[in-house]
Amino acid sequence: MITISINKGPAYEVGAEGYVLFCPADTALSLEQQAVAKKLLPVPLEHELKRMHFTGAVDSCVEFLGVRNGEACRLLCVGVGALSGKSYVRIEQLRRAVGRVIRVAERLKITKLVFDLLHPDLFGIEPFVYAKEIVIAVEMATYQFNQFITDEKRHVAEDYTLFLIAPESLHEMLEAGIEQGVRIGHSVNQARHWCDLPAAYLTPAGLAERAEALAHAYDTLSCTVFKKQEILEMGMGGLIAVAQGSEQEPRFVVMEYHSGDKNAPTIGLVGKGITFDSGGLSIKPAARMDEMKDDMAGAAAVIATMQAIAHLKPHINVIAATPIAENLPSGSAIKPGDIVYHYNGKTSEIKNTDAEGRLILADALSYVAKHYKLDALVDIATLTGSCSAALGPFYAGVVGKSESLINQLIDAGKQSGDRLWPLPFSDDYRMAIRSEVADVCNIGKDQYRAGAITAGFFLEHFASGMPWAHLDIAGTSFEVPDRSYYRGGSTGFGVRLFVEFLLTWKPLVD
Ligand code: BES
Ligand code: MN
Ligand code: ZN
Repeated sequence: MITISINKGPAYEVGAEGYVLFCPADTALSLEQQAVAKKLLPVPLEHELKRMHFTGAVDSCVEFLGVRNGEACRLLCVGVGALSGKSYVRIEQLRRAVGRVIRVAERLKITKLVFDLLHPDLFGIEPFVYAKEIVIAVEMATYQFNQFITDEKRHVAEDYTLFLIAPESLHEMLEAGIEQGVRIGHSVNQARHWCDLPAAYLTPAGLAERAEALAHAYDTLSCTVFKKQEILEMGMGGLIAVAQGSEQEPRFVVMEYHSGDKNAPTIGLVGKGITFDSGGLSIKPAARMDEMKDDMAGAAAVIATMQAIAHLKPHINVIAATPIAENLPSGSAIKPGDIVYHYNGKTSEIKNTDAEGRLILADALSYVAKHYKLDALVDIATLTGSCSAALGPFYAGVVGKSESLINQLIDAGKQSGDRLWPLPFSDDYRMAIRSEVADVCNIGKDQYRAGAITAGFFLEHFASGMPWAHLDIAGTSFEVPDRSYYRGGSTGFGVRLFVEFLLTWKPLVD
């Protein structure tokens, strides 16, 4: 639990264990910061910082032992980097600084902190966005997956009391930003928790139940869960095929967020929900197969986004569909060479059972495209090692034919911190997935390489001409290095992105 209050300061008037000064790169301490240091430290801070070669670089933080009213306290100087870049770049620096503070606080075992904030103008953003981003970063940085570590000494603090120091004129806007930041941060962490849970603790039925439970908690959400028999009768051959090697039954979950206005724009989100991906008969190598418990990160992001949206109540309707299954080899598993019928009647040849994500997304995309009149349709999936190899852990790939939709997604990525990079999506690649025996093949031909792109062309067959975009989060959803506000494990990639995207939705122009 994070408890946050806003105070007009000065910072040293508030009793706490740690006092945090945010320091831009190569910038002298402000008079206010010097005043705080003077009250708490027996030596001049400026001189000490110079001696330690502290430049205010992002990810740097130095700590001092101070005294306040006869009690020990800490003074932390955290670098926020140069404040001269684009505003979204500066916000990211701020997130990393906040994440760094939490990491240092964990080590020092202090949980009652005063953030002596810089003015939001320095970041080129509104006070509302400023507070929201700080709070999301705190929530994300304090997340830990510790429920299976029985030695509690290995857990770090989960409860923090924060005091944000800012001029009184900003308090109201900051307060509103905090409220929204808490909601978004909780939803990001919810998605991370589902991803971090081992497959035995989060089965397809289990994830569907969680979506259902979530929908029950909000008047504006509804949820329909289709079970195996219905999935079969509906003709979702891809989802049935992928699930058939496992004893865990598949689920197809459709959630709706109702803004109250039927004529409001309607956006469809589809998330890949493979609770474990062994590869099936085209089995994966042993190394890092454990990470495939995270192969439902797309579904988690979509479901958790619905929770955040239910709180934030945008004037827009949202449909979230998640096909969920476990991909295992067994005597009943699909075999290379099998052909399946998808929900829209198209067939696909399964040449590799490890390319299972597109098979289940095909059914979900065509279901949503058929049953809803959508202004845009976006799917999100840990789809290809190819995307992860191309872009690494910091950018997810995006493909699609609507430039306007892709640009909106990329902008939302820049603002939210869940960054996207477009991959080429020209028809040159289309023939890669041609099949001699079915409508499409579930892997691209070798000559075309570009597996992330050819996967996109497979999915395009099922988006039925909707303005559609596909996000490949294989590289960004798990084990992302060098981000102070992550901590190994899952990242919740997609939740911040979708919330920003939905809250700033503009009609497409192409
Ligand atoms: N879930 C994997 C993709 C993945 C790989 C996610 C690494 C995260 C980290 C997906 O189902 C898969 O196995 N894709 C194959 C496709 C190939 C067989 C065409 C891949 O990328 O190797
Ligand atoms: Mn796979
Ligand atoms: Zn997969």
